[in-house]
Amino acid sequence: TDPAQIRNFCIIAHIDHGKSTLADRMLQITGVVSDRDMRAQYLDRMDIERERGITIKSQAVRMPWEVDGTGYALNMIDTPGHVDFSYEVSRSLAACEGAILLVDAAQGIEAQTLANLYLAMENDLEIIPVLNKIDLPAADPDKYARELADLIGGSPDDVLKVSGKTGVGVEELLDRVVGRVPAPVGRADAPARAMIFDSVYDSYRGVVTYVRMVDGKLNPRERIQMMSTGSTHELLEIGVSSPEPKPSKGLAVGEVGYLITGVKDVRLSKVGDTVTTHRQAATEPLPGYTDPKPMVFSGLYPIDGSDYPILREALDKLKLSDAALNYEPETSVALGFGFRCGFLGLLHLEIITERLSREFGLDLIATAPSVTYEVATDDGRSVTVTNPSEFPSGKIRAVSEPVVRVGILTPKDYVGTVMELCQSRRGNLMGMEYLGEDRVELRYSMPLGEIVFDFFDHLKSRTQGYASLDYEPMGEQEADLVKVDILLQGEQVDAFSAIVHRDKAYSYGVLMTERLKNLIPRQQFEVPIQAAIGSRIIARESIRAIRKDVLAKCYGGDISRKRKLLEKQKEGKKRMKMVGRVEVPQEAFIAALSGE
Ligand code: GTP
Repeated sequence: TDPAQIRNFCIIAHIDHGKSTLADRMLQITGVVSDRDMRAQYLDRMDIERERGITIKSQAVRMPWEVDGTGYALNMIDTPGHVDFSYEVSRSLAACEGAILLVDAAQGIEAQTLANLYLAMENDLEIIPVLNKIDLPAADPDKYARELADLIGGSPDDVLKVSGKTGVGVEELLDRVVGRVPAPVGRADAPARAMIFDSVYDSYRGVVTYVRMVDGKLNPRERIQMMSTGSTHELLEIGVSSPEPKPSKGLAVGEVGYLITGVKDVRLSKVGDTVTTHRQAATEPLPGYTDPKPMVFSGLYPIDGSDYPILREALDKLKLSDAALNYEPETSVALGFGFRCGFLGLLHLEIITERLSREFGLDLIATAPSVTYEVATDDGRSVTVTNPSEFPSGKIRAVSEPVVRVGILTPKDYVGTVMELCQSRRGNLMGMEYLGEDRVELRYSMPLGEIVFDFFDHLKSRTQGYASLDYEPMGEQEADLVKVDILLQGEQVDAFSAIVHRDKAYSYGVLMTERLKNLIPRQQFEVPIQAAIGSRIIARESIRAIRKDVLAKCYGGDISRKRKLLEKQKEGKKRMKMVGRVEVPQEAFIAALSGE
């Protein structure tokens, strides 16, 4: 296809503003999916995605569209909407020349709308503002058209009004994509350069790599080369999705399509990498490549210890389709054998644990999420800590922690309570702006460690669900952080150690010692539960002793009954963990960790 007749665009929207529904309607109107085959959210393939309405993996579809007798190829690139996947979002955007900014006409702009809009503007995309769901009785298109126009410039009359549900306005929107989004430009006779914007594991075909051709051409059966690693692969198939995969005679400047090489691991085909040909390799990779970096860490343990091998296998499998997932074996006194896993963010963690339980039938407990700390010790070493148990025990010179730029959008009535919450989480207010009359955007810098710990839940409950949140990394800062240990009869219970700000060490200690006191059954002796920073005790509870004599209940002689009771007690002990001399049912640890 002549690049002049190609348009590459994406849809950016806050969750639930109707991106998938609109995409479905476009597929139907352009005729690439027949009415008969149409099923809700055609593009979201994973069950979990469909159920939770989140797009995890982006994909691309080619749709034909005619304007004034000229045929165009519209490539719609689906972007993941969530911040955890912001690197993937940014690569999808980099594959486009234009973006449809989709806003629910009953809700208005939300935090993710803004975050994605800023990303799109950084990528110099042409922005097409669109209000969706105008069929809703609660829709207020005039009000939100003004809001959108204020935000991106231009007149409220330029804001298109559509309904992805009924299809109203969608044809006009496709016309506008052709009219407004610039055609791709590239050097047709230069060495091939294609940017990978997505890489998906398919159990039948191996890894399917989605690319946007920037320069040159890729031909079937060519030997391709990944520029970040220099590794080469034979092209088994090259084609376009429409939306089912269709082999083609190659991909040229501006085109969007897929490559299949038979590799089985997405790490060999990384999002953001540049693909070139082995025969005539390009010298300069396309800009913007970085390795996905885990930001949030948590220990995952099977509740039934014998599931450990299944967990290992399951993680190995998930890793094939998720280059951002990291894990290594870990053992814990309280929880047994498990894995320390690294995630892009909290949603990523949630998705992985849910897939482990759903697809592999695993019952898991996750330790409190932690972030990466850099610890400088007094003897001049620098230690990277992703697990509180690795925190150096000697004298500490400084600790630095990751900081994020947080954007929160809230109705103005809740500004006070949101600010209070952010301050309690060591947030620094960087800016505050009104969007329209009743909504406010608050911008904070905040330690990531304060966000991974139930911040979102608190934000939602303080604003009755109205506030939305987005964040992106903005570097590191030094902070007065300490490791708090929890001790049972003087023995450290590893899964409960946490790195917290010194001001919060006491309240963490009190919370955990109280929880454990209420959950751990009494023993034959008194058991002190302490919270400590190093050797200094900061909180203390104790479990009083009982005389636990089960046999006393059997008045006298019935020996078989006595034996039965003893057997029963033994069985009960199987799920006990020993911490020093103290016997603790594993359930108590699990309940304490999950805050139940
Ligand atoms: P993600 O892709 O998961 O981020 O969400 P989304 O933006 O794709 O939202 P989705 O298309 O799943 O729509 C969210 C909800 O809004 C669904 O319940 C849709 O049925 C509904 N919806 C989408 N478009 C319209 C519309 O034009 N009118 C009405 N009334 N409802 C709509």
